[in-house]
Amino acid sequence: MSIPEKIQREVASLRKAIERHNKLYHSLDNPEIPDADYDSLVERLEGLERKYALASDSSPSSSVGFAPLPKFSEVHHQIPMLSLDKVFEKDGLRNFTKRIGNLLGTEDLINFSCEPKIDGIAVSLLYEDGKLKRASTRGNGKSGEDITHNILEIPCIPKTIELKKIKTRFEVRGEIFLSKLNFNEINKRARQEGQKVFVNPRNTAAGAIRQLDPKKSAKIPLEMFCYGIGINEGIALPESLREIFSVLKELGFPVNEDIRASSGAEECLDFCLELYSKRDLLDYEIDGAVIKVDSLLSQSLIGQNIRAPRWAIAYKFPAEEKITKVLGVEFQVGRTGTITPVARLEPVFVGGVTVSNTTLHNMDEIERLGLGIGDRVIVRRAGDVIPKVVKVLKSGQKKPTTPIIAPRFCPVCMSPIEKDGAVLLRCTGGSSCSAQRKEMLKHFVSRSALDIEGMGDKLIDQLVEEGLIKDAADIFSLDASVLIEMDRLGKKSSENLLAAITKSQETTLAKFLYALGIREVGEATALSLANRYPNLEDLVLAPIEELETIEDIGPTVSSKITAFFASKTNVDLIKRLRGAGVRWSVTSTINNTNLLGKTFVLTGALESLSRREAKDRLLELGAKVSASVSKNTDFVVSGPGSGLKLSKAVEYGVKVLDEKEFLALLP
Ligand code: IVH
Repeated sequence: MSIPEKIQREVASLRKAIERHNKLYHSLDNPEIPDADYDSLVERLEGLERKYALASDSSPSSSVGFAPLPKFSEVHHQIPMLSLDKVFEKDGLRNFTKRIGNLLGTEDLINFSCEPKIDGIAVSLLYEDGKLKRASTRGNGKSGEDITHNILEIPCIPKTIELKKIKTRFEVRGEIFLSKLNFNEINKRARQEGQKVFVNPRNTAAGAIRQLDPKKSAKIPLEMFCYGIGINEGIALPESLREIFSVLKELGFPVNEDIRASSGAEECLDFCLELYSKRDLLDYEIDGAVIKVDSLLSQSLIGQNIRAPRWAIAYKFPAEEKITKVLGVEFQVGRTGTITPVARLEPVFVGGVTVSNTTLHNMDEIERLGLGIGDRVIVRRAGDVIPKVVKVLKSGQKKPTTPIIAPRFCPVCMSPIEKDGAVLLRCTGGSSCSAQRKEMLKHFVSRSALDIEGMGDKLIDQLVEEGLIKDAADIFSLDASVLIEMDRLGKKSSENLLAAITKSQETTLAKFLYALGIREVGEATALSLANRYPNLEDLVLAPIEELETIEDIGPTVSSKITAFFASKTNVDLIKRLRGAGVRWSVTSTINNTNLLGKTFVLTGALESLSRREAKDRLLELGAKVSASVSKNTDFVVSGPGSGLKLSKAVEYGVKVLDEKEFLALLP
């Protein structure tokens, strides 16, 4: 067959690119493109090689990973460490199971081991006569790097195992990973110490496992899940993967509890979909599921090709990292005047949603990333976490990009911008800045504040822009004739909104204080203040030293509170709000309950009340409600659908309450 020159050139350039990315990923732990983009390159190459019969052993499409770096001693894999073929859709998985049926010559449902595909680093552990002799990375599949010194530092990996016979050689294979919890902790600390933060758990784990100095490696708390075996000499093996996992567990190896045995394609698909839906709740990162034929005899009958076994397949999930381009940067003005740079992105589908802009937090972050307008970047969105730019891709960029310069004047009101602390920028316009006014109003009507249903962001923007309201007190003089003129507000919605405004006048002192938007005063502080000062007048006049005696209120917060009440504009606003009918009852419920100061975490669904209502009840009773479980949590209230938080509660020995027990605690 004569092969068009264009195709030959494309194949050559794909091979070169894949080899380069292999090196960046496997040897330098510094990938330049997300996995999904790499997979597309390999897929394109494989397609062309198939179509034009160009496959060759030297092509990167038939090899795995990358040869070991010279700084480590090389370990030859007696049994190669293979990769996995992939599918991305249900039918791909159905075709795989059909193929297996054909190869085994059966129409019966086949038993599979369904496993999470851990996004970590493949390793092999070799035990001789029960002692951990050597540990190595996968490398290029034929030989890897000796990382025994670092593996010895990982507590969950047994250093000796009880094998009854001597003269045994037993190789266990699995994935080294860093848990999401530990990854977040490490990055939190790095941020506090002004150090470089890591891009994702996989890269952090890969960097740690390939350290030359085991002390440095041990600083990253790595873990492992074992998912297979290699060499097994002098040992009788069971007949199925399922039994192998039991043996491994008995010998003390960590085996993933989320592995499930399934029969036939549809049960395997159920597993994959269930796993995908709980992806965010798992404490380890996954990039898909692995479906393996369970019977070892069937595995050997089916066999393997040079790159991957034919008896297993990876069902890949949507990528959580993608490449896109920064089209521009806008500076947004917050409620208290903080200026936040926001990147406008070429829209990209990542982590299950289309992302077209993302916060860059502050100028320090921009500098840390080395970001300019026009840069190609990796955007990461894992779970329901806000998408973020994690890396700038400098190579392959033809022209230099436009630097991002901090503004000196507010982009909305043109007031000068001043530095607030080390990294924050703030507009000095205060309530004369329409952006700040809009944000203050949005805060005032929000659910945790006065909770005015139907008063959305767009409506507030319009009311402010048309000069119909200036501050929160003006909300209470809005009438139907004004509202009906607003975009998208018909007669019915206007009436509903007016009813919601009237309803919001009856509130609690804590919600009112929170609604005022005093800097540093969140829901919990507002509640402490309301409990200490049931009479608002006493709080307005409270000296700073007195405020500092309240639990959880330090000098910074108390100075913000006194500064707020020292402003005539603010005191006038409070008077006008009360004059407009905003009121609360002065009795405090706190003293007659025993939940004061107790910390709760709510997880899963509750039947008789929403999580929001449960939170409000607890706050009214003087309890604290936290988003994450720690050693200091007193109670976890758990309903159906709770995941990670529940397991954390068990881990920390925190008392878990079901809905009935929780309701019984409330007065
Ligand atoms: S089995 C012979 N099982 O995925 C089959 N691999 O893309 C070899 N991986 O190199 C792998 N979780 O690093 C297997 N439960 C699992 C896995 C898993 C993660 C990784 C492993 C492998 C890569 C292939």
